[in-house]
Amino acid sequence: MIQTILFDEEGKQYYVNDISRDFHTKHGFLTAKDLQSKKVIITSNTGHEFKKLNPTRRDVLDKIKRGPQIITNKDIGLIITETGLNKDSVVLDAGTGSGALACFLAGIVKKVVSYETNEKNIKIAEHNKKTLEIKNLTIKNKDVYDGITEKDLDVIILDVPEPHHVLKHLKSLKNGGFLVVYLPSLTQVDLFIKEAAKHDVIVLKTTETLQREWIIKRNIMRPDFSMLGHTAFLTLCRKV
Ligand SMILES: C[S@@+](CC[C@H](N)C(=O)[O-])C[C@H]1O[C@@H](n2cnc3c(N)ncnc32)[C@H](O)[C@@H]1O
Repeated sequence: MIQTILFDEEGKQYYVNDISRDFHTKHGFLTAKDLQSKKVIITSNTGHEFKKLNPTRRDVLDKIKRGPQIITNKDIGLIITETGLNKDSVVLDAGTGSGALACFLAGIVKKVVSYETNEKNIKIAEHNKKTLEIKNLTIKNKDVYDGITEKDLDVIILDVPEPHHVLKHLKSLKNGGFLVVYLPSLTQVDLFIKEAAKHDVIVLKTTETLQREWIIKRNIMRPDFSMLGHTAFLTLCRKV
């Protein structure tokens, strides 16, 4: 568990998990006494300054234990804004994987139920749920292709390889509710959309988000050479 965060003079960030011990960096070490103090700027034994910040839920989410590929923040942002998820929403998420999406959403919605078939991934997600002290997330060892037991759902989010198998179970979703399908390949999107045409669902759009950061320091202002490009396509649907 992160106890404090340090920023060095170059803006590099360090997570410190144990402030009862000295913490070593390439700019020398910080003493346990300084790490535990109320000071917000502390100095290493070699004279370098570090800014000290308290961790928030956002930092813990960043460092969760990972198994399979997680949904990235850029995509989580789009899911929340496109579906209008809020404190009254009840959500079904499948598959749980590491629980990155489920744990993030639990912080803003009323309730999340998440289905996962792989026991190893359930253990990872349960570990992350415990670390984040989440109470409104239920992880079930369940195949989402076999059906959805929950009723009156506001949003269903599917990060599984063949989401078209879930189209026949959409009676669990409220009229007007959102179905979000997260698929890395356009061939999967194509199959899903063809199958969706046979069910009580309106396909609104398929979209992706590309995230490019900029280098801004002294007289340099340019886009970073690398960027977070394609992760997956989001296909958004609404239940009739
Ligand atoms: C890419 S991971 C999901 C990552 C997750 N969305 C996150 O943000 O951490 C896909 C997961 O779906 C699970 N899965 C695949 N088919 C499934 C099914 N039919 N029902 C439930 N889970 C399934 C896999 O075991 C895997 O853990």
